[in-house]
Amino acid sequence: MTSNQRNSRFGVGLLLGIILALGFLPPAGKAEYGDVLINNYSDAAGMRPVVFPHWFHRIRFRCKVCHADLGFKMQAGGNQINMLKIIDGEYCGACHNGEVAWSIENCDICHTGKPGMATQVHMSTTSKLTTVTGRKPKEEQQ
Ligand code: HEC
Ligand code: HEC
Ligand code: HEC
Repeated sequence: MTSNQRNSRFGVGLLLGIILALGFLPPAGKAEYGDVLINNYSDAAGMRPVVFPHWFHRIRFRCKVCHADLGFKMQAGGNQINMLKIIDGEYCGACHNGEVAWSIENCDICHTGKPGMATQVHMSTTSKLTTVTGRKPKEEQQ
């Protein structure tokens, strides 16, 4: 066996290993109870709607941080959020700026909703709001 053949066999084995390992991992980008689907503008702009994981954030920050200091109204879709405001450091952009949390070039971590779904709070553990993208923040992709 030449070293080239050995290398390519090793490559195939490694690839199969990765595929098998991935098959056993829970899928990323799944909506959970209490997630907020925000779709005031996304669909119209040809983007997937945004899935905001409320509980994920609620266990990390006090309500006041977002609903008083950052001015988020407690209503699904009740804030006129757009990318200009986010880039200016408002709403999600107060944290998703590469300092408090990963920054906004990670479009497909926020825009994971199913196209066409209305703004809503996710109440059922069986209904699926998202499509799986499985993407990680850019800084973590090496
Ligand atoms: C931290 C989360 C987050 C990230 C990252 C993000 N967005 Fe958004 N984006 C939002 C939210 C929230 C809205 C409002 C959704 C709605 O109401 O439809 C929005 C709305 C939009 C809209 C429609 C409104 C507008 O401003 O035109 C477009 C287009 C858009 N995003 C594109 C992008 C692109 C392209 C990227 C990557 C460069 C990106 N977004 C990254 C959260 C995010
Ligand atoms: C990291 C920011 C953040 C934190 C912390 C946070 N929220 Fe929210 N909350 C949001 C966003 C964003 C929305 C959706 C707003 C939209 O769709 O425009 C929301 C929506 C809501 C809603 C309306 C939707 C629903 O689930 O009925 C309520 C009520 C609410 N929040 C209560 C709370 C409470 C209570 C806490 C603290 C235990 C809290 N939030 C913590 C950002 C936050
Ligand atoms: C008060 C700060 C804060 C605000 C405001 C905020 N986020 Fe986050 N967000 C975070 C932090 C911190 C993380 C965790 C980052 C990490 O794991 O590196 C995070 C993670 C996320 C994740 C990934 C969750 C996961 O399972 O890994 C999504 C999606 C997200 N935010 C969307 C949003 C959207 C959409 C908005 C605006 C509607 C928003 N965030 C507003 C701080 C914030």
